[in-house]
Amino acid sequence: MKIFSGVQPTNQLHIGNYLGAIKQWVALQENNECIYCIVDLHALTIPYDPKQLPAKIRETVVALIAAGLDPEKCIIFAQSQIKEHAELAWLLNTICPLGELERMTQYKDKSKKFKDNINVGLLDYPVLMAGDILLYKAGGVPVGKDQEQHVELTRTLARKFNQKFGKVFDEPKSLILQEGAKIMSLMDPKKKMSKSDDAKSCIFLFDAPEAITKKIMAAATDSGKDIKYNLTKKPGISNLLMIYSLLTGKTTQELEKEFAGKNYGEFKKSLAEVLVNYLEPFRKKQTEFAARDVYVQEILKQGATKAQKIAETTMREVKQKMGLI
Ligand code: TYM
Repeated sequence: MKIFSGVQPTNQLHIGNYLGAIKQWVALQENNECIYCIVDLHALTIPYDPKQLPAKIRETVVALIAAGLDPEKCIIFAQSQIKEHAELAWLLNTICPLGELERMTQYKDKSKKFKDNINVGLLDYPVLMAGDILLYKAGGVPVGKDQEQHVELTRTLARKFNQKFGKVFDEPKSLILQEGAKIMSLMDPKKKMSKSDDAKSCIFLFDAPEAITKKIMAAATDSGKDIKYNLTKKPGISNLLMIYSLLTGKTTQELEKEFAGKNYGEFKKSLAEVLVNYLEPFRKKQTEFAARDVYVQEILKQGATKAQKIAETTMREVKQKMGLI
C-alpha cells in the first residue's frame, strides 16, 4: 500500500507524536511505499519565527531518523519544496464547501488558542492536508486520533473530485492505532498532549533523564490512591498507565496487578525509569545525527527529487481533467 503522512516542524516531537503516529511510520516503511513529509507550509498558520524555521525543519528530520525512519526505505522531504502541494490545495479549494471547514474541531480549537491570528490558512489547513495526501495517491494515512476528521474530509474531496471530473483518486484510509492514538497532557489529562502547550505537559523524545523524571513525578493524578485504569474517573493515572503499557508491552490489567497496593509516587517512579530507558537510544541517535547537517540536507534533497516526480504526474492528470491547459 502507498502510505503518506506528515508532521509539523513546530517545537520538538513528543511521545504523543511517537506513540500515535511515528511508531507506525517506522513499522510501515518495511513493507510499503512510504512518503513522509515535514509540513512547513502548515506550520505557517500559527505564529512562528522565520529565522528559526529552517533549523526546525532540519531538526525534525533528525528527530524522525532518531525515532527509526530509514531514508533508504522511505521518502522524507519538506512540503514547501514541492510547489504542487499548494497548487493542488487551490484546486481542491474550489470543490470544498466552506461549511465543512468551519466545523473542523482543530480549526475551532486553534482559532480559540490563537485569537489574534485567525488567518485564512488556519481554516484552509485541512484542504492543504487533503492535497498532500491525494498528490501521492496514498491509500493509508497513519495518524493520531486528532487528524481523523481531516482524513475523512480528504475522502470526501477525493469522491467529489472523481464525480465531477472523472476518476483520479482513490479514497485514502486513516490508520489509527487502537491504543496510543490520543496521549493526553501530563498537566491536564482531559486535553491531548500538544507541542504548542507548556513543556511540563509533554515528554519530548529527547528530554534529558532528569527532565523526564521531574515531569512524570509532577504529572496530574486523580483523587483516590489506587493504580486503576478508568478513563472517566481517573483520567490522569489512566493516561500514565497507557503510556507505561505502550512502552513495555504489558497490558493495563497486568500493570494494575503489578502495582496493587502501591501508591502513585511508586508507580510514577517506575514509569519515569521505563521512559528514561526507552528513550535512551533516541537521545543517542539524536546527538549523532544533529552533528551531521550535510547528511540531513542530502536526505531532504533526495526526498524532494523523488516526491517531485510523483507530484508532477498527478498534477498533469488533475489539470487535464479540470480543463486547465
Ligand atoms: P502534528 O505535527 O500535529 O502531529 C504529528 C502526528 O502526531 C499525532 N499526534 C498525536 N498522537 C497521539 N497523541 C497525541 N497527543 C498526539 N499529538 C499529535 C498527530 O495525529 C499526527 O499524526 N496536520 C498534521 C500534519 C499533516 C498531515 C498531512 C498528516 C499535514 N499534512 C497529511 C497526515 C497526512 C499535524 O499537524 O500533525
